[in-house]
Parts: sequence; C-alpha cells; structure tokens
Amino acid sequence: MNVQAFDLRDDDRRPPVDDLIGVVQRGLRARPKKLPSWLFYDERGSQLFEAICEQPEYYLTRSEIALMELHAGEMAAVLGEDVRLVEYGSGHAIKTRMLLEHLSAPVAYVPVEISTEPLRACVQAMGERFPGLPVQPLSGDFTRALRLPIPPRAPRRTVLYFPGSTIGNFEARDAAALLRKMRNEMGDNGGILIGADLKKDTATIEAAYNDRAGVTAEFTLNMLVRLNREIGSNFDLSAFRHRAHYNTMAGRIETFLVSTRAQKVRVGRQQVTFGADEAMQVEYSCKYSPADFAALAARAGLEVTHTWTDPASMFAVYYLVRAGVGAPEASASS
Ligand code: AVI
Repeated sequence: MNVQAFDLRDDDRRPPVDDLIGVVQRGLRARPKKLPSWLFYDERGSQLFEAICEQPEYYLTRSEIALMELHAGEMAAVLGEDVRLVEYGSGHAIKTRMLLEHLSAPVAYVPVEISTEPLRACVQAMGERFPGLPVQPLSGDFTRALRLPIPPRAPRRTVLYFPGSTIGNFEARDAAALLRKMRNEMGDNGGILIGADLKKDTATIEAAYNDRAGVTAEFTLNMLVRLNREIGSNFDLSAFRHRAHYNTMAGRIETFLVSTRAQKVRVGRQQVTFGADEAMQVEYSCKYSPADFAALAARAGLEVTHTWTDPASMFAVYYLVRAGVGAPEASASS
C-alpha cells in the first residue's frame, strides 16, 4: 500500500485492556511490589518519554542518532538490497529515516506498534518522506508472535529493526526470549539490527534517569495518574516519589515508585498497604557491554556479526544473524 489510505493490519492478539486491574493487583501482591514498565506509555507517558529524549542528561537518543549519522550507510550495505524492514515500535522516525535513506530498493517498511495514533502518524510521515516505499503498518504487541503482512514482492531478507535500547527494559531472561521470538520471525536468512545502551560510569547513567528538570520523575509518577484514571485506583501522587539508581553488579538502572509514608491505596476491591519508604519496582534499564550483548544473543541462538558505536562510545547498534550462518554476503566490515 501507500499511505493515502491508512490500511491498518490489526493483530487481534493484543493483551485485553480489561485485565489491567488484574495485572496491577498481581504486581502489588508480589514482594517487592512490582508494576510492568509498559504501563508508562499512555498518551501523556509517550509525550513525556519524547521530552526525556530531549533532556541534556539523557544521552541515549542523541548518541544513537550520532551513531546513525556516522554508520547508517554501512549498515545499509550490510543489510543488502531488497530488504523488508520490520520495526518494533514506530516512535523512532529519525533513526529509521536515516537507515531507509541508505537502503537499496527496500521491499517494504513494516512498523509494529500497539497504539494506533503513533502508527498512523508514522505511516503518514514515512509516506511523505519516501513516496515510493510500501508501508505496511501492523498494530499489535511486538512481544508476542506476529503475523507479518504479505510483502508486495519477495524480499531477500527480513530485518527486524529495534532501536532505542528498549531491549534493556526487559530482564535478561525475557530479553533472550524476545530475541528468540525475533529469530523465528526473521527467518533463516534474516537479521536483527538492534540498539542497546553501553555500560559506563555510574554518575553518567544515573544522571540520565534523574534529569534536573524532573521530566523522568513526572514520567514515572504518570503511571499512577494513568492507573487512577483507567482502573479507578486512588494513589495519592503527593505520597510517592521517583527513585532511579544504577545497580552496578546487575548492570542496570532500577526505577522505583517509593511511598513517602505508610498508607493504604484502593485498587479495585482491594486495599493495598504501603509502608513508609517502601519501594515498588517499575522499570529496569539494562546496560550491556559488547561482550554481555554477544552472550545474550548467543542464548537466543544468534551471533553478532557487526557492532557500531557513536564517537563517544556511549551507545551501540548490533547486527545479529542466526548463529553459525555468518555475515550476510552483501556485508561491509566494521
Ligand atoms: C524506552 N527505554 C529505552 C527508556 C530507557 O532508557 O530505559 C525508557 C526510560 N525510562 C526512563 N527514562 C527513559
């Protein structure tokens, strides 16, 4: 298709919204209490995340863009001609555009996104920028098995593009499971182009998740605003605060909503008790050295054939193929 008509393929296996209360109640029964980070991304949360990416302390986005400015041409050469590019998420237009500008005769671009509005905006923007490119949006949850749309012509390979270090928001076991799922989706000859934040000094990493303007804190607290609105809970926003610290041993930022006093919160028919200073876990942002990432890939039956970093070595993009298959024949070395 092209973009005049917003021909949206709806993957009907999205998580049922009415189970939100169940998800939250289960998380609040866990010890320590724990809510999934996907709950951040309602409309306001997505806007706040965009604002985080602009904060001076949040180096990830700027570093990945700098990396793409330097290396997108080389990446496109590695991917080769006639690629079907499937992007997990559709909020990364700048980086995706940089890649598509260099790709030779891409067969289709397939953004996969759970929310319809960002998907529609992405289709429109890509259609304007690349008028000849077939765009095949797929509405669905990329953590689950996807039924990709039938491509307009046979691709030489399917490449799954997963920028932004979102893989870091999955715990190691879940990250390996997601990569394994991606390995199935890309097929024998396919590949995965994936961005992941690098390990570095604690101060730099912690500053990125504790910006001075307080945008990340607002992003974290917005999860409670969302829950109050969508499931009718009564979290008192003034009685919780954001805390993000780097766990060096685990190599990850751990973000919590901390209860500033002893309190009870109504969630559905339950009253949930919070102690003073009790921390509820809401996000991990895992950081990987290139060796860590190669080990993660190996757990999923994948191998890293190429690694690119930005000039300041803050962030990395990896190209992964099935283990034992080796680099694609169109490859340029890095
Ligand atoms: C989307 N993800 C890669 C961000 C991260 O850095 O983990 C989400 C985020 N959370 C707080 N700041 C940014």
